[in-house]
Amino acid sequence: MNRRTVLAGVAVLVTGLTLAGCSSSDDKPDLKVTGAFMPQPASDMAAGFLVIENGGTADRLTSVTSPISDDVTIHETKDQAMRMVTSFDVPANGELRLERGGKHIMFMQLKERPRQGDKVSVELHFEKADPIKVDLPVKESTYNPKKQ
Ligand code: CU
Repeated sequence: MNRRTVLAGVAVLVTGLTLAGCSSSDDKPDLKVTGAFMPQPASDMAAGFLVIENGGTADRLTSVTSPISDDVTIHETKDQAMRMVTSFDVPANGELRLERGGKHIMFMQLKERPRQGDKVSVELHFEKADPIKVDLPVKESTYNPKKQ
């Protein structure tokens, strides 16, 4: 490859990146969080639920952090038992649903016990996309948006 070819290649790359930044991006995840909540906890453990909509390419939710707990993990429920997982798929042009009876965020050893009406801030970390900060409104302990 001669020098001219290399320069042409760089120009194409730069142009490509600029376009990706302006478009709604077909080549990276495009994530939006909806329906987030935390049922008011009855002990020093709490769960969090939300939906991550993805209008772009596939990504993975890899971890969650929160000032309310130093022990936040992601769990799925199989055969009525919870188990910790290392990541959840956020499918391309699809959604990841964390909901009652299924996948959820697990907060252990709460530093304080949030009450209905409070907000708990969390940061979602992804394999590709930038972290997203979300406030989980604390709802009554039996709250389930599916049953509204
Ligand atoms: Cu759990």
